[in-house]
Amino acid sequence: MALVGCGRALPAASISNDQLSERVETNDDWIRSRTGIAARRVAGPGETVTTLAAEAGRAALDHAGWAPGEVDLILLATSSPDDLFGTAPRVQAALGASRAVAFDLTAACSGFLFALITAAQYIRGGAMQRVLVIGADQLSRWLDWDDRRTCVLFGDGAGAVAVQACRPDDDGLLGFRMHSDGSRNACLTLAQVDVRRPLLGGLSHQSGGFAPIHMNGQEVYKFAVREVPAVLAELLEASGTDPAAVDWLLLHQANQRILDAVAERFAMPASKVLSNLAAYGNTSAATIPLMLDEAVRDGRVGAGDLIASSGFGAGLSWGAALFRWSGPGTPPADA
Ligand code: UT7
Repeated sequence: MALVGCGRALPAASISNDQLSERVETNDDWIRSRTGIAARRVAGPGETVTTLAAEAGRAALDHAGWAPGEVDLILLATSSPDDLFGTAPRVQAALGASRAVAFDLTAACSGFLFALITAAQYIRGGAMQRVLVIGADQLSRWLDWDDRRTCVLFGDGAGAVAVQACRPDDDGLLGFRMHSDGSRNACLTLAQVDVRRPLLGGLSHQSGGFAPIHMNGQEVYKFAVREVPAVLAELLEASGTDPAAVDWLLLHQANQRILDAVAERFAMPASKVLSNLAAYGNTSAATIPLMLDEAVRDGRVGAGDLIASSGFGAGLSWGAALFRWSGPGTPPADA
């Protein structure tokens, strides 16, 4: 599997830390020093997971040089769908990718990485040739904007990567790991509310609806700084890769302190750590492809660069992938 195109999309409105302090009791210094976040984007009227995902997806298709009709599969990693029955088909329609099968994949902040690895299975199994993997979230619709412990952390956005079947020599996915631990699910939830309404006779039915995001920040922090280095170390060792050979550390953008702690563990200089937390905060499933696209477009990440990536968050779930960015122009498998 080769990564051959990328794209991103962001809502127009940006909210600074100072602006947020007009709503909740917080301040720029606390948010910056604890998280590295300075601002976040929030979807406005007409901006949804569908529109953001489609815009990012379209950019990735253009970058890869693919026509929409050539896409076999669209995987949309999201935890904030426009439609619980699935948002990916709406994205498929918006892109005009009429031949593609499209479905959602939910794994919170690990979602994009899990979707990328899932795409690899379809490609390596021979069922699919061209897959569009999108991470898109609009968590602003599920935040309690009066809860300063969570509302300062998240933002909306989308990122996409086009991956294709390639010749064995061009294979860009060197290895991966995925983990879940549902016993720690309560640490970070966006859960169905337990409200029941009378139905008929003595029966009742559960009413649909979700409670705002609830997080035990300290527990999630401890989980991240323990599991992310461990899973990356396991992956690097299994693939026989010296950490010094890694060009870029591309982690889920949750907190700059987590990024710094992981980099320190592998003795990686700050110059190799990709971070755009300051501008966008935690965009959940979107952070990794959003960051990758930014770094590819501004020339930091070039063809052949080796990237160690890890996603982690609610579930709890976490995983890692070691991949090379191939870039547009990589020959397809049958070339
Ligand atoms: O994408 C999913 C993965 N999520 C994460 O990785 C998040 C992981 N967790 C974290 O990044 C950090 O735990 C946070 C940034 C969420 C919180 O940082 P912390 O250093 O763990 O702070 P804390 O929760 O221990 O709170 C310290 C103090 C508390 O006050 P007291 O009890 O010491 O008086 C909080 O009430 O900071 C207070 N506080 C705030 N103060 C100003 C909490 N939120 C805020 C705020 N502004 N926004």
